[in-house]
Amino acid sequence: MKRVGLFRSSGVLLERSYGNLKDSDRIFTNLYDDFGWDIASAEKRGDWYRTKDLIVKGRDWIINEMKASGLRGRGGAGFPSGLKWSFMPKTKPDDRPSYLVVNGDESEPGTCKDRDIMRHDPHKLVEGSLIAGVGMGARYGYIYIRGEFYNEWRNVEAAIKEAYAKGYLGKNACGSGYDFDLYTYRGAGAYICGEETAMIQSIEGGQGKPRLKPPFPANVGLYGCPTTVTNVETVAVAPTILRRSPQWFSSFGRKNNAGTKLFCISGHVNKPCTVEEEMSIPLKELIERHCGGVRGGWDNLLAVIPGGSSVPLMPKHVCDTVLMDFDALRDVQSGLGTAAVIVMDKSTDVIDAIARLSQFYKHESCGQCSPCREGAPWLDKMMRRFVKGNAKFEEIITLDDVSRQIEGRTICALGAAAAWPVQGLVRHFRPVMEDRIERFWEANPHWGKAGSPWRRWKTHRYYTMQKGDRLNWDGKIVRNWN
Ligand SMILES: Cc1cc2nc3c(=O)[nH]c(=O)nc-3n(C[C@H](O)[C@H](O)[C@H](O)COP(=O)(O)O)c2cc1C
Ligand code: SF4
Repeated sequence: MKRVGLFRSSGVLLERSYGNLKDSDRIFTNLYDDFGWDIASAEKRGDWYRTKDLIVKGRDWIINEMKASGLRGRGGAGFPSGLKWSFMPKTKPDDRPSYLVVNGDESEPGTCKDRDIMRHDPHKLVEGSLIAGVGMGARYGYIYIRGEFYNEWRNVEAAIKEAYAKGYLGKNACGSGYDFDLYTYRGAGAYICGEETAMIQSIEGGQGKPRLKPPFPANVGLYGCPTTVTNVETVAVAPTILRRSPQWFSSFGRKNNAGTKLFCISGHVNKPCTVEEEMSIPLKELIERHCGGVRGGWDNLLAVIPGGSSVPLMPKHVCDTVLMDFDALRDVQSGLGTAAVIVMDKSTDVIDAIARLSQFYKHESCGQCSPCREGAPWLDKMMRRFVKGNAKFEEIITLDDVSRQIEGRTICALGAAAAWPVQGLVRHFRPVMEDRIERFWEANPHWGKAGSPWRRWKTHRYYTMQKGDRLNWDGKIVRNWN
């Protein structure tokens, strides 16, 4: 195992390694549905064990324990969860209820961890929702599930029914005196509905479009009431943290990157999987221990996107040593995001791969902010040309510049998500882009010049349109354009 990190013991500096999580330290013990997801099986695994005792310890205790555990949100941004939950108001001027919204939208390409919780360990999620609800002082909870996740929704719905039947939810939940109702809500498959304010709008029945913050949802959220939106995994680990102690949880991973984490690894590995591991595990060990290594061996690795499609990729030399946690990945100009690891071996056309992501973000932009609405299609169009090499060298700078004009100038983080993959490509694979451009012009020296097929097509189009006709992309006249 790779030796990384340092900790101090009796004045002596010792090396500490991360990874190789023991089965007894796993929170998600039914990730692969080996033992059944129904309530009887879940109770055998320790779910719903003396939940009442956790609830009666009260809201402040839950928040303090979550803060002490060092848990950071598993939805992508990595904001400290205990702190976030504590933002919910304790006193209100009126009798408006507070809401918990559990984010099960999981639309980030490469990410497939929340769906495994929902279909194979739904009681962890249901119990976690109750605990999180108590911690926030919420009266109602909604679990927002991506529309395509039919089986996942069915299992969560069945788990909620089982919990109601046993008196674990509803009035006097678990006999604790606390009232908490939990519902599911199915989305329609729009990526943008994963953004918290868009999700709130979607539950209210409106279009899933983000809005500016402030006001933050903790003050003005669902139906205008205090609301906290939090990820499925974040919520599902809460009961185990409270039962096994925050110290146990924070003993995993480096400082400020505590805990165990679900990693979903896809792409060019021998055995793609979702696995629970210790935070800060080296990327190489994660892939070799759990996925049977990179296809064709480690030296066949080209690049890895470590945290879902929106974070910048890392070339092999960075992957050799990088640790899988928030801070280590930020230091190499990437991010842990949703911990969805997308592995690309040397057979990958890396420009085409990133172009496909640009197409995705263009498609998912909700269109409210000009930089995202105009910039994402612009990136997409340029990337299509870069795939062929049909570009000028200077346009690489233009591409990078356009991405930087989008980033940080939008209502929500989708703008940055569209920009970062392109920036990672330019940062690490500029020679590949230049080489592609050179080869294109070698093969097509007359492209765009007088007499070339492209120029003839443009001229034909110009004169036809002068006559009032319009052409489709095959050069055919379209009379009824609409
Ligand atoms: C475009 C966009 C899509 C998002 N999609 C998801 C998602 O599918 N699931 C998720 O948990 N968070 C998603 N988020 C992040 C949420 O807005 C929110 O930060 C998160 O649910 C908070 O949960 P946490 O505190 O547990 O991390 C998305 C954010 C943006 C900007
Ligand atoms: S950044 Fe894009 S997706 Fe987000 S609100 Fe603006 S236009 Fe919509």
